Amino acid sequence: MKVSVIGAGNVGATCANVLANYDVAKEVVLLDIKDGFAEGKALDIWETAAVLNYSTKTVGATNDYGATADSDIVVITSGMPRKPGMSRDDLISTNANIVKSVTEQVIGASPNAIIIVVANPLDVMTYCAYLAAKVDHRKVFGMAGILDTARYKAFLADEIGCSPKDIQAVLMGGHGDTMAPLTRYTTVGGIPVTEFVAADKLEAIVNRTKKGGGEIVQLLGTSAWYAPGAAAAQMVDAIMKDEQRIFPCCAWLTGEYGLHNIYLGAPVVLGKEGIKKIIELDLNDEEKAMVEGSANHVKEVMAVLDNMKLF
Ligand code: NAI
Ligand code: 2OP
Repeated sequence: MKVSVIGAGNVGATCANVLANYDVAKEVVLLDIKDGFAEGKALDIWETAAVLNYSTKTVGATNDYGATADSDIVVITSGMPRKPGMSRDDLISTNANIVKSVTEQVIGASPNAIIIVVANPLDVMTYCAYLAAKVDHRKVFGMAGILDTARYKAFLADEIGCSPKDIQAVLMGGHGDTMAPLTRYTTVGGIPVTEFVAADKLEAIVNRTKKGGGEIVQLLGTSAWYAPGAAAAQMVDAIMKDEQRIFPCCAWLTGEYGLHNIYLGAPVVLGKEGIKKIIELDLNDEEKAMVEGSANHVKEVMAVLDNMKLF
């Protein structure tokens, strides 16, 4: 299979690197607008193949969508990351123009591709890619929930003193401070998390998760890339293998959870055609209120995009 990653910056290059290590794709194309940048990153990654023992070929291209032609999956990371003091929503006008033009060119070269959006503000950039791609919504979705649950699992693992591998969790809502990690659905080795972590500590971990992206921005002066790149690669891997894995992803809702015409984080089944199914949890009133609050915020930012009249 062929995968293209648009944007060879921190997240894009990490995603390509992790994908190459999985050794499932035949070819991973990295594309960027900066002259020679994607070519350099792709060559560096290809030169690790002999050391790390994989065959996936990585190829770089400067703004040449011909190189991405007939990709099965395209990951869109092109866009500005935030700086300290900025919210993800502050990126909308710059990144909407980038995501629109990139998506149109991606679909022009690979009309059947599945598109995974990473650029922020995530839920609205996924909406933007969907409007630009004009394809079935099950083939355009966003990466956020795997990253956000990975952060939640990391913090829980530190608190409990266990491996993050043994934590199962689901998170809903937008990729921002209104996201809703669902503690009632969190288990550790199959045991409810509440048997390991006291209520006040769990609440603190949930709050840290919600602000997890900002914590890294404060430390690094730009946003995270190792975990985001790996999370996007995990989605690609699951699609390539048609594994029917269940992940929280940013999906177009058409009535699920009582929500219509919105891109929002929800648990989905991923397969080779994209989103195979959106799983509807039987949320309690408190959980419903969190998800609805987050949806209202995402709707407001979607309206900002609509008012830009790009489509
Ligand atoms: P970066 O600045 O390292 O890389 C972005 C790359 O996109 C740059 O190399 C730039 O030249 C390229 N680019 C810009 N316009 C382009 C165009 N029209 N065509 C092709 N390439 C273009 O930024 P980083 O850290 O990789 O972040 C990328 C995006 O991902 C940001 O919007 C960031 O906020 C978002 N992000 C989203 C996450 C999520 O969970 N969904 C997590 C982490 C980052
Ligand atoms: C993150 O959560 C900035 O969305 C990016 O790290």
